[in-house]
Amino acid sequence: MKLLALALAATLTAAHAQQPLAPTGRWSHQPVGTAPTPPMGWSSWNAFRVDITEQKVLDSARVIVDSGLAGAGYRSINVDDGWWLKRRTGDGRMLVRTGLFPSAATGGANVSSLRPFTDKIHAMGLKAGLYTDIGRNACSQAYDADSPNLPEGTQAEREVGLMGFVDRDIALYFNEWNFDYLKVDGCGLSSYGRDRPHVASGQYREFTPTLVEGSVNQSDVAGTKKLYEGLKQALRRARPSNDYVLSVCLWGTANVRSWGQEEGTMWRTSRDIANTFSQMVHNFDTVATREFYAGPGRWNDPDMLEVGNGDFDGGHLLEARTHMSLWAIAAAPLMIGTDLSRASPAIIDILKAPEVVAINQDPAGHQGVIAYADSDREILVKTLADGPNGGRKAVLLFNRTSQPTKITLTAEHLKMAAGAPIALRDAWARADAGSFTGSKVFELQPREALLFTATGKHVLPRGYYVSERPADLYVARDGIRALEQDPVVYRALASWSATDNGGTRPAYAGWGAPRADSTPYDQALSVRRQAFRHGIGVLADSRLQVKVPAGARRFVASVGVDDSTRGMTAAVSFELWGDGRRLASTPPMKFNQPARELSADLHGVQLIELIARQHGADTAGPVVVTWGEARVE
Ligand code: GLA
Repeated sequence: MKLLALALAATLTAAHAQQPLAPTGRWSHQPVGTAPTPPMGWSSWNAFRVDITEQKVLDSARVIVDSGLAGAGYRSINVDDGWWLKRRTGDGRMLVRTGLFPSAATGGANVSSLRPFTDKIHAMGLKAGLYTDIGRNACSQAYDADSPNLPEGTQAEREVGLMGFVDRDIALYFNEWNFDYLKVDGCGLSSYGRDRPHVASGQYREFTPTLVEGSVNQSDVAGTKKLYEGLKQALRRARPSNDYVLSVCLWGTANVRSWGQEEGTMWRTSRDIANTFSQMVHNFDTVATREFYAGPGRWNDPDMLEVGNGDFDGGHLLEARTHMSLWAIAAAPLMIGTDLSRASPAIIDILKAPEVVAINQDPAGHQGVIAYADSDREILVKTLADGPNGGRKAVLLFNRTSQPTKITLTAEHLKMAAGAPIALRDAWARADAGSFTGSKVFELQPREALLFTATGKHVLPRGYYVSERPADLYVARDGIRALEQDPVVYRALASWSATDNGGTRPAYAGWGAPRADSTPYDQALSVRRQAFRHGIGVLADSRLQVKVPAGARRFVASVGVDDSTRGMTAAVSFELWGDGRRLASTPPMKFNQPARELSADLHGVQLIELIARQHGADTAGPVVVTWGEARVE
């Protein structure tokens, strides 16, 4: 009987893989680890690079506790690259560099354990994090060649990454050493090709790169995802309680911006941050359009904070606040990256800012959605747990430039009624900031971001737009056929590179993914010249799952092929399913046909699925469709 059930389940799974548009009737996201709100903590990397010691880590942990940062939510103390000595010959057990981590010297030369370290961290009421690589070798071995702290020994002993040792290492890190958090980098897949000097010299074993930064086509997307899938399974075996965080660090490559939610608790969407304003903005841009990929248990990661460093140090408090405000509105993980033993009280206050952190940690877990953007100014709005309808939202006004500027905030940006007052509260000043009706003009200093919570009357008499609650939407199928690089990322010049290489180019796949209040290709939503300010833009052959709150009565949208479509001949039909039952659908619709209303009663429904089904191929390209004004009433 059990075998029969298993066979049936396997057949259903196989059938489903062949029919990706078939509704499942249940929310498909299965969290990896536990992180109902964005993870918070401290990591050694931005502060010390590979120059870490146990003492430095403990000093920052001490400040975390004593300064109240732990109370504010920063609890995970993460040891990044640089902790390892070698992999022991014979049984492959990882050894710690006890010269740097003295408490790890628990026996002779060939014995070590990080358990005394994690015990200390846990005794402080904190959690402990560790770093490794999905390949055979790590990033420091490729990029910090001059460091005296690199793994030692034979070529095999220097293979400190997970490849070939997943179960062994995971059991060691999570069961024996009792870590709570693991960051898993990808340099082992990208940086050990035969052309590299450290490989040519015989120092490290060759690994033909399966990850190519800058080219998703040259990267083995499925193979990379599979490695993280194996890691996820090993973690589930080691920690059946699911009580951990898995941080996937692939710098936005290999389409991880789309599949990270399946294999990790959080995943990097961009290359490494640096302590320059332009690099920080670049990293922010790589999450800002990924609103439908984050939510409780799954977080886009623009990288660790640089607050306290460089352009964001004690002499640049305005920039430090801007950096924090951007990470707050984006619901990004907050990993402090500065040497806290040297941080000024002003920097600690910025990291601690209770109303800013509260916006980041809001339990609904919605990422802020872009309500306005040009190359100089941006407005993002984040629905908070007690909104909508008529509840509170967080709003960020951002001056990206080095000149003062003005930004007009309107009720429409907030999806609030233009005729009713909107009360603002300044999240930094922790003070009410008056109210306005209709619109209000703000003056911003160079590089300034203002962060408010806004309370007003919702523009809809009942319910809300689906685009306001991005965490309630799961992209089960995005409709993307050919992976393309996402061009809407500010092209910062990485601080570590010179201008001798043709410049930085957009290098993160994910272009064409569904968007809130925008088409997937960053155009305004419009069907046969009927514009929709609100809605969901997506490619055809997509399936979106949307959680519906108790008490919802109706779903309504105006659907059609978007005017900006690339494919202009294929027809698309729209289907609305509720808990696995078809509720409503349209006949096939083509470009330049007027939008049709698609609506259905939602009483008793918990999950709806929005399916846009394409009929036949379109040689001109993907068909862009719009769920205009999609709303739950
Ligand atoms: C990569 C990661 C960084 C850091 C270093 C360590 O560059 O993206 O965050 O972990 O490796 O070497």
